[in-house]
Amino acid sequence: MKIGIIGAGYIGGNLAKLFVKARHEVALANSRGPASLQHFADELGENLHPMEAKDAIVFGEVVIVAFHWRNLDHMPIYDTTGKIVIDTTNPYKADGTFFDLQGDIPSTKVLEHFHGGKLVKAFNAIWYKHLAELGNTSIPPEERRVIPLAGDDADAKKVVSSLIEDIGFGALDTGSLQTGSRLQGVDGILFGKELPLKEARGLVE
Ligand SMILES: NC(=O)c1ccc[n+]([C@@H]2O[C@H](COP(=O)([O-])OP(=O)(O)OC[C@H]3O[C@@H](n4cnc5c(N)ncnc54)[C@H](OP(=O)(O)O)[C@@H]3O)[C@@H](O)[C@H]2O)c1
Repeated sequence: MKIGIIGAGYIGGNLAKLFVKARHEVALANSRGPASLQHFADELGENLHPMEAKDAIVFGEVVIVAFHWRNLDHMPIYDTTGKIVIDTTNPYKADGTFFDLQGDIPSTKVLEHFHGGKLVKAFNAIWYKHLAELGNTSIPPEERRVIPLAGDDADAKKVVSSLIEDIGFGALDTGSLQTGSRLQGVDGILFGKELPLKEARGLVE
C-alpha cells in the first residue's frame, strides 16, 4: 500500500522502516523538510520517499499521524477524505504529564486537522523500542505481541489490522473509537501491555 507518515521520530521513523521492509511504499515527512530525511532513503531504498507533509498526505492511501498531539494546534487543516488516518498520538505535554481532555479522546482533535479521514487509533499503546524489536512474522498472530486498534469504520480497521500483521504483531480490535480509545489510551488496561494477542483478548472480552 501507499502509506504517508507525518512525523519521523521514534514512532514514525520506526514505522517507516517496518513498512518498507514489509514491501509497502512509504512517504515520510517531518517539520524540517525532505532533505533532513535523506538518510532514511539511503538506508531503505526506492520505496522510501522523503516529502513535505502536505505531499505525503496526498501520496498515502493510509496516512499515519506520528507527531506530538500538542503540535496539532500549529498544524494546517488537511483534507483526508477517502483515506484511512491512523492516529498514534497520546496527549502528553512537553513535561511528560498529559492534558486533561475532560472525557474527550485525543482523536477528536486529530480529525479536526485530518479532516474527512476514516480514523483508526493504533500504535499509541506500544513503546517505540518494542515496536522496533518485537514484531515476528514467523509465528502465528495469536502468539505475537498485541497491538490494539479502535475505530468506527469496519473496512478501515481490516486494512489497519492487516498492516499490523504485515509487520509481525497481533491486531486486537478494541471496538469503536470512543470505547476502544479508552481501553488502549494512557489510562487504559491495554496501554503498554506486553502480552500476546491471545492473552490480551481476554482483557477486553
Ligand atoms: N515514543 C513512544 O514510545 C511512543 C509510543 C506510542 C505513541 N507515541 C506517540 O507517537 C507520537 C510521536 O512520538 P515520538 O516519540 O515518535 O516523537 P518524536 O520522536 O519527538 O518525533 C516527532 C516527529 O514529529 C515531527 N513533527 C513535528 N511537528 C511536525 C509538523 N508540523 N509536520 C510534520 N512533522 C512534524 C518531528 O519532526 P522534526 O524533528 O523535524 O521537528 C519529528 O519527526 C506522539 O503523539 C506520541 O504520543 C509515542
